[in-house]
Amino acid sequence: MSSAFAIEAKGLFKSFDGKEAVSGIDIAVPTGTIYGILGPNGAGKTTTIRMLLGIIEPDRGARTLLGHERPLEAAREVGYLPEERGLYPSMHCREAIAFMGALRGLPLDVGRKRADILLQQNGLGDYTHKPIKSLSKGMAQTIQLFGTIVHQPKLIVLDEPFSGLDAINQGRLEQMIRDEAASGTTVIFSTHVIHHAERLCERIAIIAGGQVRFEGEVATARDRLRPQVRLRTRAADGPWRAALPAGAALRDGLWQFELPGTGVEPLVKALVDGGAGIEELAIERPGLHDAFVQIAGEAAARQIEEDRRADLEAAA
Ligand SMILES: Nc1ncnc2c1ncn2[C@@H]1O[C@H](COP(=O)(O)OP(=O)(O)O)[C@@H](O)[C@H]1O
Ligand SMILES: [Mg+2]
Repeated sequence: MSSAFAIEAKGLFKSFDGKEAVSGIDIAVPTGTIYGILGPNGAGKTTTIRMLLGIIEPDRGARTLLGHERPLEAAREVGYLPEERGLYPSMHCREAIAFMGALRGLPLDVGRKRADILLQQNGLGDYTHKPIKSLSKGMAQTIQLFGTIVHQPKLIVLDEPFSGLDAINQGRLEQMIRDEAASGTTVIFSTHVIHHAERLCERIAIIAGGQVRFEGEVATARDRLRPQVRLRTRAADGPWRAALPAGAALRDGLWQFELPGTGVEPLVKALVDGGAGIEELAIERPGLHDAFVQIAGEAAARQIEEDRRADLEAAA
């Protein structure tokens, strides 16, 4: 397996108590990209991440992490934010960050200096000597994120990093992820919120029910769906109706249909020639949400939406 990929996994399986949690996951994360693992709660994201990192062993399948077939050998080059967060409550922010770095081989004095820089760069200089227990949940999570990157890993793995964060800390995290990727670091994160994956990732794996339903570029997932056309005319009827594609549906005076292979030009000509009076004509590229519905199914789409709502309420 080549170094073009920070992570390569083939056919990972894992059962718990005789029940399959992950059923044959294939993933390839190109070096230097932002990669998202997207799926509803219970899909198998955390189990997959733990297998990739070597925290648990797959029942079957193989993976390499930064070229190592035994993932733990890459531990010092990896930064990992687990789904269950936690820092020592009485540690001050600077110490907590330096301590996390030390666990990955960074000398404490270097860690302290970098902690100060990270805090200052993010406008959090006032927090340097504050104990973790005095922080809000979201702020403690941000400190843990700094601790995850303080040893300047080649690969950053974040399990549901956005959950539990308010809008400000979410924005800060998005920027951090972009900055890390811009400096050549590979970032992989899991999420059950489609728009985080859509905004940040070049490549994604959509997983549902322990299986990869899609793996590849976000643009490729979106391109599986035809663009949608919306049309409102002044005249309700006319010979132009024959130029509408099959499957066009009229809802509240608005025609909706998939962009035909011929484009809209023949229809527009018929509308103009027929004097229909075009009041609204829009061609919209489908978003990742629509692609997710098509790829993972209505039930998974409903569940992921419920997960997102529950998260918003928990973070409020
Ligand atoms: N340590 C475990 N013991 C038993 N069941 C587990 C364990 N870890 C995960 N599972 C089960 O495996 C499935 C996938 O879980 P998980 O990987 O945590 O999904 P996700 O991170 O996508 O929410 C779920 O049904 C979950 O209950
Ligand atoms: Mg999880």
